[in-house]
Amino acid sequence: MILPSTLVLAGLLASGANAFTTRKSGTWDDSYALANSTVAQMTIDEKIGIVKGTGQLSSTRRCVGDTTAVSRLGVPSICFQDGPAGLRLVKNVTGFPTGINVASTFSRRLMRARGVALGEEWRGKGAHVFLGPAMDIMRNPKAGRAWESFGPDPYLNGEGAYETIVGVQSVGVQACAKHLLANNQEHWRYGLSANIDDRTMHEIYFYPFLRSIEADVASVMCAYNRFNDTSSCHNAGLIGDNGLLRKNGFKGYVVSDWGATHDSAADNANAGLDMEQPGDYIVIGGGVFANNALKNAVSGGTVTTARLNQMVARILASWYHLGQDSGYPPTNFNAQNEDPSNSLNLNINVRSDAHTAVAHEIAAASAVLLKNNRTVNAAGATTRGLPAVKGTAKTIAIIGQDALLPNLNCGELNECNDGTMSVGWGSGSNLLDYLVPPIDALTAYIGTSATITTSLSNDLTAAATAAKGKDMAIVFANAMSGELGSYTFVVGNEGDRNDLDLWYKGGSMIESVAAQCSNTIVVIHSVGPVSFSWSDHPNITGIFYAGAPGEQTGPAIVDVIYGLYNPSGRLPFSIADDESSYGTTIVYNSLGFPDINYTEKLLLDYRYMDAQSITPRFEFGFGLSYTTFAYSSLSITGSSGNYTISFQVKNSGALAGTEKPQLYLAYPAAAGEPKKVLRGFEEVPLAVGASQLVSLTLDKRAMSVWDTPSQSYVPVSGTFTVYVGASIKDIRLTGTIVI
Ligand SMILES: *[C@@H]1O[C@H](CO)[C@@H](O)[C@H](O)[C@H]1NC(C)=O
Ligand SMILES: *[C@@H]1O[C@H](CO)[C@@H](O)[C@H](O)[C@H]1NC(C)=O
Ligand SMILES: *[C@@H]1O[C@H](CO)[C@@H](O)[C@H](O)[C@H]1NC(C)=O
Ligand SMILES: *[C@@H]1O[C@H](CO)[C@@H](O)[C@H](O)[C@H]1NC(C)=O
Ligand SMILES: *[C@@H]1O[C@H](CO)[C@@H](O)[C@H](O)[C@H]1NC(C)=O
Ligand SMILES: *[C@@H]1O[C@H](CO)[C@@H](O)[C@H](O)[C@H]1NC(C)=O
Ligand SMILES: *[C@@H]1O[C@H](CO)[C@@H](O)[C@H](O)[C@H]1NC(C)=O
Repeated sequence: MILPSTLVLAGLLASGANAFTTRKSGTWDDSYALANSTVAQMTIDEKIGIVKGTGQLSSTRRCVGDTTAVSRLGVPSICFQDGPAGLRLVKNVTGFPTGINVASTFSRRLMRARGVALGEEWRGKGAHVFLGPAMDIMRNPKAGRAWESFGPDPYLNGEGAYETIVGVQSVGVQACAKHLLANNQEHWRYGLSANIDDRTMHEIYFYPFLRSIEADVASVMCAYNRFNDTSSCHNAGLIGDNGLLRKNGFKGYVVSDWGATHDSAADNANAGLDMEQPGDYIVIGGGVFANNALKNAVSGGTVTTARLNQMVARILASWYHLGQDSGYPPTNFNAQNEDPSNSLNLNINVRSDAHTAVAHEIAAASAVLLKNNRTVNAAGATTRGLPAVKGTAKTIAIIGQDALLPNLNCGELNECNDGTMSVGWGSGSNLLDYLVPPIDALTAYIGTSATITTSLSNDLTAAATAAKGKDMAIVFANAMSGELGSYTFVVGNEGDRNDLDLWYKGGSMIESVAAQCSNTIVVIHSVGPVSFSWSDHPNITGIFYAGAPGEQTGPAIVDVIYGLYNPSGRLPFSIADDESSYGTTIVYNSLGFPDINYTEKLLLDYRYMDAQSITPRFEFGFGLSYTTFAYSSLSITGSSGNYTISFQVKNSGALAGTEKPQLYLAYPAAAGEPKKVLRGFEEVPLAVGASQLVSLTLDKRAMSVWDTPSQSYVPVSGTFTVYVGASIKDIRLTGTIVI
């Protein structure tokens, strides 16, 4: 491959993403016309080089997946690189907040902005395909990769997927919706069968993919697991001509997860698989198109030439559709050997102040304030609780290993948890070279305004000693999960978490600190719900659930603790004390690949808790602010299949802040829906005393149910209840719609 001069590329990047000369992307018809004419000029070997990866160990491989270039026709090696929170295995990139954190913002603006920034970094590095967003529903809170996606609610996942894809693709990078379908746990993922009834499949697990198609996604990744006993990557019901994707208007190509192919070349190609990655055997599958297997199938007639042409055309049409045939930067990294001294790497820095600002804002906006027992002095300044006022506490203890910079050399997949947890492990991870840990950001901000004592080892006794008698203690604890693979166990957890406990006896450490300090602020970094059995302790005056916030974790936590950013994060899941409150389990032990029957159907997370009358400790959609908001004037207008729900939100407190009003819908009982389902949310920034009219819409599909006999969404008639509130339990306005 010919590399451009560093100077030219550096010049391009210095002038910002908008300086890229992107060919105006065409309609899918235009793109297919171009693709068809290119395919018509190709030999069979050139075609096969495009529909399969080059292999894990090939010397030409630069990315986690690559295709073979057809230079004589101007088609480069297409570069696939893992996200979805930042470029994996690549230097000089931004470590963005995870999917679950951007879900916590309940902000389409930030979901979109993160997508744009991710797209700019992929483009700057010359990677054509962003392997994300992930939209696997958090069926169980311990699911190892759930932090890559947007939580247990299908609507929130759908909006997260939609905005991310629109953002990424707006700068000419292909997004890849993953993992189709129901990749909901790591144990046994290479062959477990997720058995899901048709309605549940459509309303929950497929819904984010439907939104991805509506976002015009260029590619979809089929999953490792089986769905209804058939491997996702040769499941024609999912990926075939009459399968779910195509029936819903999907125009791009289907690529296998890395090694997710089994059986013969013909089985996969004829079922609808358009591309196999990485092109050879990996873990327990893959390589079905390799070693001339696909070529022989075409020569032998079990795969038609027309089908091979269609596979190539879909891949090339997506490349044309995103305008990648013109002005796209050549791949300028080597994920197999990202050594800055490697002459293949240009080490172009795709970081920018704007990207750092996006990562920082989302990290702050995703921190969920769960508890605040504030005491004020005669002058109205906070003496205990939040927001802390710099200089008020003269002695501060900072406690917990989770405040520290982690070991940056603990494996290419971040397979350790020996410092602050800002991203899980596995292919969704990225290098943490630019991570600013909480301890650094806090000490820099506090400066000489207080005496700081630290205990950064997770040792219970040392933690208590450090906290004793201090004006304020800030204690950090975490829980982590990640991807199964050829990877090691991390602290005894194999992908999925073993339980909902904080790691390293974090709950006990928090209690030891609280026993010694009557102004204990707790920060939890976690990939999902954890046990908060300690949260009612009277000496715990503030709690933040900060998720997995990416590299700007330290500055963001300073912002919310000290009120430089008024907290506006909302829980994208419920937090209950026991796993049994979630109604699902992870299958850890099995004699061979298990059948997992999704018998809970539509009842995940808050839907299950509502059905069982379980009160969670902290409910879905919950999060406090340093100000208060008043809701009024609900109005519902419209007619069948198109309603506008309007209401006023007012900042009734003493600080500027952002409310995240939510719309929940209760169907007529006969519809068989959960008691309440999320159907809308908005981000409403308000100055002190200001009001804003918020309008949310309920379209026809939002008030329908999936009907199996007709294979369509069918409207329901009867009385709907519309709930508008600050969380699923904190309902402020109620109205009805009778259809
Ligand atoms: C591309 O080729 C396929 C297969 O021959 C054909 O069905 C399709 O209509 C063509 N598209 C365009 C836009 O020419
Ligand atoms: C999957 O299996 C379930 C249970 O047997 C069945 O209800 C559903 O229709 C199947 N879905 C598909 C797409 O075959
Ligand atoms: C890229 O990262 C390396 C290692 O982190 C660093 O030494 C180098 O200065 C960075 N390059 C640029 C252009 O920022
Ligand atoms: C502490 O704050 C929580 C919510 O932040 C509130 O529910 C509780 O009543 C407060 N307790 C006291 C003693 O003020
Ligand atoms: C709260 O902290 C004080 C020390 O400031 C301690 O004396 C008291 O026992 C603690 N309360 C509890 C319930 O642990
Ligand atoms: C899943 O459902 C199938 C079909 O109803 C049944 O045969 C099987 O025993 C169930 N498996 C489990 C683990 O419950
Ligand atoms: C639904 O109504 C809203 C206003 O209430 C309007 O903006 C929108 O265009 C309507 N949509 C359709 C599909 O009629």
